[in-house]
Amino acid sequence: MTQDELKKAVGWAALDYVTPGTIVGVGTGSTAAHFIDALASIKHQIEGAVSSSEASTAKLKGYGIHVFDLNEIDQLAVYVDGADEINGQMQMIKGGGAALTREKIIAAVADRFICIADASKQVDVLGRFPLPVEVIPMARSYVARELVKLGGQPEYRQNVVTDNGNIILDVHNLKIIDPIRLEAAINALPGVVTVGLFGARGADVALIGTATGVQTIQ
Ligand code: 5RP
Repeated sequence: MTQDELKKAVGWAALDYVTPGTIVGVGTGSTAAHFIDALASIKHQIEGAVSSSEASTAKLKGYGIHVFDLNEIDQLAVYVDGADEINGQMQMIKGGGAALTREKIIAAVADRFICIADASKQVDVLGRFPLPVEVIPMARSYVARELVKLGGQPEYRQNVVTDNGNIILDVHNLKIIDPIRLEAAINALPGVVTVGLFGARGADVALIGTATGVQTIQ
């Protein structure tokens, strides 16, 4: 199976976690896009969605699925999203698609985070994938210098402006032994909006696409 077929398999498998009559939290990226395709097949059974990016919102609306503002709702049963890396403790690196801040907000609201990923995303130690950090533009150089002090090599993601009007620094060469501590340290830097490290709030369920089928970890 190709990587995209594995992504499609987990995207559709995530439908099992959607309760009819509810609003569904929807992530961003190529795996989440398969989930949106799957969700469209049951669109008359759900109330609508909340979305983590303008791209996912456009795709949802294209299918005629109502997209709620997160401020309109006070409870969300599930959030379904992909990941760039996931470790054995269900902690993740996210933000390869630059949607990390909205993803983290919706993940915080949701009762359950369902991570959908092909098996290439599984790692023992997070950090091989460059860690995305969303930064207020005027703080770019300052935050980059502080990230060097934390042991990383930040790289400015060229020609990318987030949905919130900010920039992304991708931090290379990190071996993230203590994700919760590093998440707190980076989030504490003035000018940082969000780090794409989901350490404190990891996934509750991981659906992993493998050559032999979808593996469920919880
Ligand atoms: C977007 C994300 C995505 O979930 C992550 O980049 C995985 O993407 P894909 O499903 O395309 O491999 O965090 O900001």
